[in-house]
Amino acid sequence: MRGAQKVVVAGAGLMGTGIAHAFASSGFDTALCDIDADAAERARASVHNILDDGVRLGKVDGDSAAAAKSRLTVGTDLAAACQGAALLVETVSEKLNVKRAVIAQAETILPADALVASNTSALSITEIGRDCRDPGKVLGMHFFNPVHKMKLVELVRGLATSDEAIAKAKDYCDAIGKTSITVNEAPGLTTSRMSAMMGNEAMYMLQEGVASAEDIDTAHRLGFNHPVGPLELGDITGWDTRLAVLRYLHQTLGDKFRPCPLIIKMVAAGRIGRKSGAGVYEYRDGAKVPGSGLRGNAL
Ligand SMILES: NC(=O)c1ccc[n+]([C@@H]2O[C@H](COP(=O)([O-])OP(=O)(O)OC[C@H]3O[C@@H](n4cnc5c(N)ncnc54)[C@H](O)[C@@H]3O)[C@@H](O)[C@H]2O)c1
Repeated sequence: MRGAQKVVVAGAGLMGTGIAHAFASSGFDTALCDIDADAAERARASVHNILDDGVRLGKVDGDSAAAAKSRLTVGTDLAAACQGAALLVETVSEKLNVKRAVIAQAETILPADALVASNTSALSITEIGRDCRDPGKVLGMHFFNPVHKMKLVELVRGLATSDEAIAKAKDYCDAIGKTSITVNEAPGLTTSRMSAMMGNEAMYMLQEGVASAEDIDTAHRLGFNHPVGPLELGDITGWDTRLAVLRYLHQTLGDKFRPCPLIIKMVAAGRIGRKSGAGVYEYRDGAKVPGSGLRGNAL
């Protein structure tokens, strides 16, 4: 299914970058689009960096990395990118109206049999696909960050999603070396729901001064064998994205997902995680500054 197949990734942020890398390095012609030309160019540089690191670490040979780079195009013209594409992966900001507008624009150009996938963390695929020309071809493909390291993709079945669409999406996952599971649409799926709950609870503990950020994260790493703690993970995910997910889960699943006020305060301050240089921790040259974790009661 690769080579001749073209994939469009809409949204060149954290996730779009990783998803574009996954497809380009697996032999797919990949067009990565964003409304922000600078974001698109930053994403190109990030994909190149991942490939160059792979070569340095001996995980990818130089020719394969060069071929992957040549298969990737980036830009701001979504309509042009959608010409002849077999799959659209929408991964723009976590807002229903923005996602629907992007997909509607893409569908004016996408071939009729193209699959339309959304990387939403928590929104309804049924709602995202409601006004699409064939909601049967709309599904969720939920990737994990960092995409080049994380093996899982949750395939999400909306009310109208066809078996054929799920089967095709599974083939795409196999082709890019990911393991897929299929989930019936539910707010937060199997993963975001758990992760949002843990991150929110960790922030409440930090706010209450139960323990320092470092100790809460250490508790999860050493006590539960999690590779990263919930506060470190929120910094990687971005607290703006995390807050949007929590607000949706709060609205759909009830009070147990009420966003911690400390998250709202951090987002209002622009302290949203690694991508802004500070979240629960501060970052210098991409590395966490030791001892920089927020202290709840001392805020
Ligand atoms: N961050 C994570 O760990 C994670 C994991 C899985 C899924 N997701 C989901 O992936 C999606 C993107 O998240 P992210 O963390 O990459 O966000 P991000 O903020 O890093 O990137 C979003 C990008 O979308 C672009 N964008 C906004 N409106 C657009 C439009 N109309 N057309 C084209 N581009 C547009 C923005 O310019 C930005 O570059 C969200 O739905 C999020 O819930 C995120």
